[in-house]
Amino acid sequence: MRPLLSVRDIKRHYQVRVPGGFFGRDALLKAVDGLSFDINRGETLGLVGESGCGKSTTARLVMGHIPLTAGSVAFDGQPVTARHDSDWRAMRRRMQMVYQDTLGALDRRLTISEQIGEPFAIHEPVMTAGQRHERALSLMDSVGLRADMARRFPHELSGGQRQRVVIARALALSPDLLVCDEPVSALDVSIQAQVLNLLDDLREQTGFAALFISHDLKVVRQMSDRVAVMYLGKIVETGAPEAVFKRAQHPYTKALISAIPTPRNRGRRERIVLEGDPPSPVDVPPGCAFHTRCPLAMTQCRLDTPLLSGDGDHLVACHAIHQSAQSAPLAAE
Ligand SMILES: Nc1ncnc2c1ncn2[C@@H]1O[C@H](COP(=O)(O)OP(=O)(O)OP(=O)(O)O)[C@@H](O)[C@H]1O
Ligand SMILES: [Mg+2]
Repeated sequence: MRPLLSVRDIKRHYQVRVPGGFFGRDALLKAVDGLSFDINRGETLGLVGESGCGKSTTARLVMGHIPLTAGSVAFDGQPVTARHDSDWRAMRRRMQMVYQDTLGALDRRLTISEQIGEPFAIHEPVMTAGQRHERALSLMDSVGLRADMARRFPHELSGGQRQRVVIARALALSPDLLVCDEPVSALDVSIQAQVLNLLDDLREQTGFAALFISHDLKVVRQMSDRVAVMYLGKIVETGAPEAVFKRAQHPYTKALISAIPTPRNRGRRERIVLEGDPPSPVDVPPGCAFHTRCPLAMTQCRLDTPLLSGDGDHLVACHAIHQSAQSAPLAAE
């Protein structure tokens, strides 16, 4: 069956000026550097990685908000490009985005009911203001917002309530794909749990697929059917959450997992501390970008870029893992 979203070898490079010489020098910043993944109908792919690894850029490329430097994104078989014609509009109603910055995402001059009704005003112009208000009230109910908030403005709500408004607005047109970029990172932990549960319930009720982006592994694990771990613009490991979290293979994934505090092993888990800082995306090391911090690095890692490969759905991009798998096959999973 054709995947709902098909992302192939996408790249987004920026020409930037960095310190060097008298005026600085031009350099190429590789924000996203060759990502491929599919999302099937009703499926949630979690994208996780450190700050600056290219998660938000990936979200914008998938949504067609910024142009691709290379590669392709197809939604339901149609290319997604950064254009604004009628086909794009028709596609856009089926792809919606939930942002981290709720105040920035909402129009401060519109009431909550107007914000949530806005997609209907754009995509269903025959609807009357009264009909839009009715639909907005029903959507507010489905995300747990009281009807008396309908006439309030965004700054009169809490962060958690505002995120519910953003979610209600994103779901107004019953999209097939929701791209969520750090949807709960700005919220308190207790409110995070409420909003995640809400997203989970809505997903069950309406069956949308999602690209769920977060730097928080626990959140990604809870929300995803499949997980992809990113490092400096590339996916280094991907698979089902049980595989990636319980049988992580890539040394970077292992280090990320070892840094998650859990009540059971607080203070006892052996934390893998990575050497050095993440390299700058303007100076991505050649070969495997992770080799400068990797405990398993070999000569080949400085020369060749490892490809994602492995058994079944659990794929890893690491020369050392592939080599040890060849010399001593891992026990069947
Ligand atoms: N318009 C731009 N011009 C130049 N560089 C950019 C631009 N947008 C993003 N970048 C750079 O691309 C890299 C990836 O940025 P991106 O916002 O995708 O990271 P992220 O993984 O979402 O990080 P965070 O977890 O902090 O949100 C960063 O180094 C960022 O500075
Ligand atoms: Mg981001």
